[in-house]
Amino acid sequence: MFSSFVGFDLPPLLLAAAVLFVTLLLRSWGQAPANLPPFPGRSVPVLGHLLLLGAEARERLLEIRKKTGNIFSMYFGGTLVIVLSGFEVLKEAMVKQGDVFVDRPAEGLTGILRVKTGIIGTSGSTWKENRGATFQILRSFGLGKDVMSQRIVEEIKFYMGYLEGLAGKAANVQDITTCAASNVTCRIVLGKRFNYDDSDFVTLLRYLHEYMTLVGGGNFHTWFPQVRYLPGDFFRTKRLLQLSAEITKRMKNFIEHMREQEKNGLAASNLISSYIEKMEEKQRSGEQTELTMHHLERVVFDLFVGGSETTATTLLWFYLYMIHFPDIQEKVYEEIVREIGTTRSPTGQDKLGLSYVKAVLLETQRLASISPFGIPHRCNRETTIAGYTIPKDVEILLHLDSVMLDDQIWDNAKMFRPERFLKDGKLSCPEFFVAFGLGKRSCPGEALAKIELFLFAVSVVQKFKIVPADPDNIPPRDYERGATCCPLPFSIRFVARSAA
Ligand code: HEM
Repeated sequence: MFSSFVGFDLPPLLLAAAVLFVTLLLRSWGQAPANLPPFPGRSVPVLGHLLLLGAEARERLLEIRKKTGNIFSMYFGGTLVIVLSGFEVLKEAMVKQGDVFVDRPAEGLTGILRVKTGIIGTSGSTWKENRGATFQILRSFGLGKDVMSQRIVEEIKFYMGYLEGLAGKAANVQDITTCAASNVTCRIVLGKRFNYDDSDFVTLLRYLHEYMTLVGGGNFHTWFPQVRYLPGDFFRTKRLLQLSAEITKRMKNFIEHMREQEKNGLAASNLISSYIEKMEEKQRSGEQTELTMHHLERVVFDLFVGGSETTATTLLWFYLYMIHFPDIQEKVYEEIVREIGTTRSPTGQDKLGLSYVKAVLLETQRLASISPFGIPHRCNRETTIAGYTIPKDVEILLHLDSVMLDDQIWDNAKMFRPERFLKDGKLSCPEFFVAFGLGKRSCPGEALAKIELFLFAVSVVQKFKIVPADPDNIPPRDYERGATCCPLPFSIRFVARSAA
């Protein structure tokens, strides 16, 4: 109809693109409120400041911070975003004014993915009750305690068996490492693990990885969700929606299967059953509750998303740094041999004695900074930070990278130097270490992630020397751009220490 109105036959793609362009142009014409934090340059119609960032958004934002200061505004498409950089500004917003910055944006990608359920994408009472109940259950399972360590150690046995099976041959262990980290989540959420060659499990993890890549802020649809109305799928938005639906379907199946097991008295202790129990208890007592089956599907999704890729990605960075810095790897090995020997498997208790290992893991997290912008927040009422007005409902980007890679905080921040986390031989982690975010919305899985990383890293270095597949061609420390920064695929060898 529109094409006949303008007098000639526009092909549908061109027509849709024209409608999209006009919509965005109108959106980007709004008047910016007064006294906003400064803009780093001129905004162009439709794209806003996206051209300033280009493909290297991470590096460009660090440069913009140097020129513009710790707090600046940008238009990402038609969306006004305020970027908070530097430890003091982040602390002011996330801790001192924590209640104001606690919510998530409800529009944009969150809107098109319809993430109005679960923990990661929700706000207000829904978020509070679901996050509270989920992590109360996890704590009752021993989150960060010895019982949890035992579940992790059981999984590590399978992982070590796989690495032994490689017999020192070069391999890309990304998939298997993700399977192992995910199995820790599965043991908690479902009360069971999957074999590494279980094709349904491997497919689910591939979907999750692709989902995490497409959901990252570097994708065009994050700021222009309208592209989903274009014919075809050039921006892969339809693929993202399809992945979200596929993963959700699998989460529903897990829950249904668990209910069947429960009926037959076959279910081991697991988060799904405990959540349902809590929900039914509240319903029976007539208490108003936002624990529902619908929310549970997304809670399970969120735990897979939050708990699998992040830990696996950090372990991959650890392997990469160990082949870049073999001297540091040897120091890690020496400490393990000195404190626990070569035969006994590590336990959670060993954390006390292995300060150097923990320093290496903190330095891995700091330098890799796998979640450079955390997850977007929203300011729920107008406020002031550093003398600037932060309007209600504006989207907030936590520039965690600006703290983790700040030369003012970390001497020679680009260098891998675990000693920066040691004081008189003891571990010392300053508050500037913000890998898990900060404030009310900081990562609730921190304790689990830390013990997982510790037990996996110690187990692997205790038994194997990690070496590059080709000593003359060490894989670069470059990464894939997605929701987390995962190293580009690389192959390494795990050479048995007894044979090294
Ligand atoms: C090395 C591993 C991990 C890193 C670096 C990491 C980092 C983060 C960061 C930066 C955030 C965003 C904080 C914010 O919005 O301000 C977050 C949120 C979250 N993480 Fe983690 N995380 C890790 C492991 C885990 C694990 C093991 C779990 C699950 C057991 C988990 C579950 C979550 C959840 C559910 C959220 C959303 C919290 C909310 O919205 O209230 N994470 N994580």
